[in-house]
Amino acid sequence: MSGRVVREPRSLLVTGGAGFVGSAFVRYLLGQADFRGTLVNLDLLTYAGNLENVAAVADDPRYKFVRGDIADGELVGRLVREHEVDTIVHFAAESHVDRSIVAPSAFIETNVVGTFRLLEVARAAKSVHFHHVSTDEVFGSLGPTGAFREDTPYRPNSPYSASKAASDHLVRAYAHTYALPITLSNCSNNYGPYQFPEKLIPLMIMNLVEDKPLPIYGDGLNVRDWLYVDDHAEAVWRIVRSGRAGETYNVGGEGERTNLEIVRLLIDCVAAETGKARSALESLVTFVRDRPGHDRRYAIDFSKIQQELAWSPRRDLASGLRETVRFYLDHRGWLERVRTGAYRDWLRENYEQR
Ligand code: NAD
Ligand code: TYD
Repeated sequence: MSGRVVREPRSLLVTGGAGFVGSAFVRYLLGQADFRGTLVNLDLLTYAGNLENVAAVADDPRYKFVRGDIADGELVGRLVREHEVDTIVHFAAESHVDRSIVAPSAFIETNVVGTFRLLEVARAAKSVHFHHVSTDEVFGSLGPTGAFREDTPYRPNSPYSASKAASDHLVRAYAHTYALPITLSNCSNNYGPYQFPEKLIPLMIMNLVEDKPLPIYGDGLNVRDWLYVDDHAEAVWRIVRSGRAGETYNVGGEGERTNLEIVRLLIDCVAAETGKARSALESLVTFVRDRPGHDRRYAIDFSKIQQELAWSPRRDLASGLRETVRFYLDHRGWLERVRTGAYRDWLRENYEQR
């Protein structure tokens, strides 16, 4: 690696570690045998938070789960003091664009106010490194060519991306004004295990398995740059350890595809895995009304993290999608509990009664 290792976090506070990306980070880090620190996972367990996602590490002596709100400054302050936290890795957010269009309020509360409260705790604690996990959606929409760089101007288009952009600005302002040691990452669309099936890829897999219509917004030619979630987890850890304080890193997958291309790749995978006829699955494709303000294209130039921290995606899209399809086929129980809301019962039985 060309980047110098400058930090050895001993006590991490990870927010949103029961969600899709946060849980991948928790599993990734605790999967590193040479990680000798401790990790407190603070998660409110909203509809998107599911302790099943981190069940594999629940008994790891380096791990502790706390249910709570990032906007509860008193709780966060106590956790930082009690656990002598030296690093906050901030994933917690409301994350679904469609929900932000229908009901933006929670996005402002968690993504903006919640991040502000965390920053206040970090500022008071003085020596905490703050890594903020953000999205490429803050940059807005691209034309047919070009890619987002770290210095691309912000131009968020949805309440979700605007709330993430606001949180990014707060993080930068705390670094600039109070010399808070921060790093920031803006990542492209993730896919992989344990993603809540309101997002494109798990939704399409679930519907393919159940022979239900595959709702494609608009003409299906919107482009996203897909990254396997474990690659994102590795990028975050690399930035936390070796990223230069005050810097932003773009993280992307070299996986630009239209939504229609993604759905066709998923059809191929599901047909191969289940023996269902490809033509029958193809006939489920259904064009529906477009998302209001739908960004046309995202693409990431990740040369900075590649050059400075020697990170690049390990998984190519074809093998990542195959693995992802296999995961959802092998975890029908998980999918069913999430789809029906029964994972809330699992939470009551396995967590709240402890
Ligand atoms: P997710 O919706 O799957 O998970 C969010 C988690 O945050 C859940 O566990 C939820 O319970 C928790 N949470 C929500 N509000 C909270 C609060 N007030 N206090 C404590 N916990 C709270 O989201 P995700 O897809 O895992 O995204 C995680 C982060 O990564 C977000 O900041 C998102 O902007 C960023 N990101 C995601 C992607 C992606 O493709 N999923 C891409 C780039 C960046
Ligand atoms: P999504 O997974 O919601 O991620 P984001 O909006 O953050 O990029 O959607 C990915 C793409 O898939 C986006 O262009 C919207 C599109 N999409 C559909 O066409 N149909 C769907 O049912 C969903 C959920 C998304």
